[in-house]
Amino acid sequence: SWNSDSVIAEQVERIRAQVGDARVISALSGGVDSAVSTALVHKAIGDQLTAVFVDHGLLRKGEREQVEQDYVASTGVRLVTVDAADTFLGHLKGVTDPEQKRKIIGREFIRAFEKVQRELVAEAEASGGAPIKFLVQGTLYPDVVESGGGTGTANIKSHHNVGGLPEDLDFELIEPLRTLFKDEVRAIGRELGIPEAIVSRQPFPGPGLGIRIIGEVTRDRLEILRDADAIAREELTKAGLDGEIWQCPVVLLADVHSVGVQGDGRTYGHPIVLRPVSSEDAMTADWTRLPYEVLAKISNRITNEVREINRVALDVTSKPPATIEWE
Ligand code: XMP
Repeated sequence: SWNSDSVIAEQVERIRAQVGDARVISALSGGVDSAVSTALVHKAIGDQLTAVFVDHGLLRKGEREQVEQDYVASTGVRLVTVDAADTFLGHLKGVTDPEQKRKIIGREFIRAFEKVQRELVAEAEASGGAPIKFLVQGTLYPDVVESGGGTGTANIKSHHNVGGLPEDLDFELIEPLRTLFKDEVRAIGRELGIPEAIVSRQPFPGPGLGIRIIGEVTRDRLEILRDADAIAREELTKAGLDGEIWQCPVVLLADVHSVGVQGDGRTYGHPIVLRPVSSEDAMTADWTRLPYEVLAKISNRITNEVREINRVALDVTSKPPATIEWE
């Protein structure tokens, strides 16, 4: 029967044999797969590994801290964080087309990662240390099947390639999760002591909140969405609903002006949409029938606590025809 201890032991052996005394880099996204594959490689080779986390400014509340503090504390991984929010927002200025946003975010992610990679390679050379020869990828078994099962190429799903890495990097890949399913990866993550908030995290798109602001992405709008999203997540968790929903995007209709009333005055704000979905694999999805009390709580809190939001709407569309994300 399947046993996370023996998978870990086996992978540790295998990684050590593959790497020797070379150095390795890994990109953390905040998600489960990169967190577990990175921790597994760290268990095998310790500080021969450097993990890189690109903060593109499109993360949810607390995500950077979760990686920099909780993840590092629990795994001991040597981490380099790249502060790239200004660069990303600069390139996103004035952009409203969803595909354009994805392209820009994907391109800038690769640029940011390559910059750190060059710095690390130069540092290794200058210090006479072993060269960086390997790159960790959190490829899972379903990804292998979906992409045709080839080995040695970076796993990048065609339309979901943000957060993926350039294919022409001069590295060999280490893919310790290649034979595993998501549940098994989570079990290994728990066994490795990774915080539960990361191990059980719901899917979050590589382009982050950038594709959940309908309209131009700005710092102010990100701030609004981040606050509303944090409230929704908190209330869903409190209500014990995390297991029932696949994910719940919170979407800011930033160019829509919504009229409200407060005290004796009219207010002008923006609507926000809750998009709770139930799904097995994100290929199809149904909208989750959340309890009215939970919806009411989320709506009250968001409109009370986030000044710019005066209306909360619920998306009751299945996939197909609607995708899970709005963009
Ligand atoms: P859709 O919106 O296509 O989403 O129904 C299906 C799943 O994929 C996620 N998603 C993305 N993930 N980069 C990603 O890494 C992307 O550009 C992207 N677009 C959508 C979405 O959150 C859902 O889980």
